[in-house]
Amino acid sequence: MRHLLSAADLDRDAALRVLDTAEQMAATQQREIKKLPTLRGRTVVNLFFEDSTRTRISFEAAAKRLSADVINFSAKGSSVSKGESLKDTALTLEAMGADAVVVRHGASGGAHRLATSGWINGSVVNAGDGTHEHPTQALLDAFTMRHHLVGQREPGAATGEDLAGRKVTIVGDVLHSRVARSNVLLLHTLGAEVTLVAPPTLLPVGVQTWPCATSYDLDSALEGADAVMMLRVQVERMNAAYFPSAREYSRRYGLDARRLRLMAEHTIVMHPGPMNRGLEISADAADSARSTIVEQVSNGVSVRMAVLYLLLAGSDDVDGGTA
Ligand code: ASP
Ligand code: CP
Repeated sequence: MRHLLSAADLDRDAALRVLDTAEQMAATQQREIKKLPTLRGRTVVNLFFEDSTRTRISFEAAAKRLSADVINFSAKGSSVSKGESLKDTALTLEAMGADAVVVRHGASGGAHRLATSGWINGSVVNAGDGTHEHPTQALLDAFTMRHHLVGQREPGAATGEDLAGRKVTIVGDVLHSRVARSNVLLLHTLGAEVTLVAPPTLLPVGVQTWPCATSYDLDSALEGADAVMMLRVQVERMNAAYFPSAREYSRRYGLDARRLRLMAEHTIVMHPGPMNRGLEISADAADSARSTIVEQVSNGVSVRMAVLYLLLAGSDDVDGGTA
């Protein structure tokens, strides 16, 4: 694999390879000294044209724990504000010798453009392109589900297993969510059954062709779910009114204490973050014992270590880098 642009780039074997490598990475992160020499001498550039907290810092932590050099670039405060193009920005980064470019861009297809342009030679990792995809989020979500729904919680316990037959309900602003699209693709590859729940206005045109079911009724879609993933209402991408009011949205599509009680005991509550507390998820749900929201963030570091390792280290071993 040269780039990671879409969850569809991963077949079942490739997805399991990432998840299993992430288990090994997670095990190394239990040690007192967390840093591995694996990517010594390599340079990872974080190229962020859109805001990020989790993705940017976890890619940075992942690259640093593998001993790579990291260059962080955010469009805000850069020469992009003087009108510099993606091409010239990319050529500048190439001149710094980037082995991997982790890119978040507001345009759907931004990462693909960078990977196929010839402007840079390194690997491109899509860290979110418009409303299209966010493959490493889907990988960390699958990693989290595997821990809770398949193996034990210890690192390595679920190695080799997929998510066959697990039922995942994804709720909310599917229309603007790259997280939903990447999750549907990856979860389908891993054998899970996905139901998307949203008001009709927040389901994309053509969703019938996605490998999942759809529903407008949250209460019934909670029944039998093993994982319930709430999506952020992406106000910054909305140019029209998609629902009558915030109150009405919460009543019909928000996860609250009443709905928590409808779920089976083992069902986990997920959210990619950042959350609109009180809109798509109440504080009771976000902070409940079944919430994996904080764990998803820590799993993000292990999964991103695995992705960088598999893209950049070739056949070197996880621990040493020169075996
Ligand atoms: N942080 C995720 C993303 O960038 C989800 C969200 O922003 O709602 O796609
Ligand atoms: N989940 C996620 O991508 O978060 P950030 O937008 O903060 O990176």
